[in-house]
Amino acid sequence: MGKQLAVVVIGLIAFGFAITSNASTYVVGDNSGWDISTNLDTWEQDKKFIVGDVLVFQYASTDSVCEVGQQSFQTCNTTNVIKCFSDGNTSIPLTSPGERYFFCGNRLYCYSGMKLDVIVERNQSAVAEAPLSGVPEAESGGSKNNNPSTVVPSTAVFVRVGSDAIFLGLLGFLGILIWIF
Ligand SMILES: *[C@@H]1O[C@H](CO)[C@@H](O)[C@H](O)[C@H]1NC(C)=O
Ligand SMILES: *[C@@H]1O[C@H](CO)[C@@H](O)[C@H](O)[C@H]1NC(C)=O
Ligand SMILES: *[C@@H]1O[C@H](CO)[C@@H](O)[C@H](O)[C@H]1NC(C)=O
Repeated sequence: MGKQLAVVVIGLIAFGFAITSNASTYVVGDNSGWDISTNLDTWEQDKKFIVGDVLVFQYASTDSVCEVGQQSFQTCNTTNVIKCFSDGNTSIPLTSPGERYFFCGNRLYCYSGMKLDVIVERNQSAVAEAPLSGVPEAESGGSKNNNPSTVVPSTAVFVRVGSDAIFLGLLGFLGILIWIF
C-alpha cells in the first residue's frame, strides 16, 4: 500500500510540474523552417496555441517575417505591416488571446502560401481529460490491485492550464488520499 501511495505522490508531483511549465515553443515549419517550400497548413494542422507559447521563425537572410492585420494578410498587402523582421531567427511570444497573422515580406512569396495565421487561446481553460500517469504503474506493481482507493486517481480531471486553483485542488485531493491511507 505504501508503494502505491508513493507512485501516486510521484505522479502528482510530476503533474504539478506539468501545470507550472506548460508553455511551448514552436519552430514554424519544424526543420523546413519559414520557407516558401514549407507546407505551413500541414504544419499548423495538429497544433493548438496558448497564451505563453512562443513561435520561432527561422529563415534565409533573403526572406523576412511580418506581422500584419487580417485585411493585409488576406490580400498579401505589404503596405501596412505591424512589424517586420529579417534577422533569420525571430521569436514571437504569443502574449494574449486572439488571432495573429504573419506573412513573408516578399509579396510574391505570400501569394504562394508563405503566410501563417494562428489562433491563440487563453491559458486558463481546461482542454483535456485523461487519467493520471501513475495509475498504470500502480496496477502492475503488486497484488493489492483490487483495493478501490488506488483506482480513485483515474477519475481525476487532467487539465492543461496554469490555474493554481486546480493545482490546489489536487493537493487537497492528495491530502484526502493520505487521510484514507
Ligand atoms: C498565462 O497567461 C498569462 C497572461 O495572460 C501569462 O502571464 C502567464 O505566464 C501564462 N501562463 C502560462 C503557464 O503560460
Ligand atoms: C494596401 O493597403 C493600403 C492601406 O492599407 C491601401 O491604401 C492599398 O490600396 C492596398 N493595396 C492593394 C493592392 O490592395
Ligand atoms: C535562435 O534564437 C534562439 C533564442 O532566441 C536560440 O536559442 C537558437 O539557438 C537560435 N537558433 C539559430 C539557428 O540561430
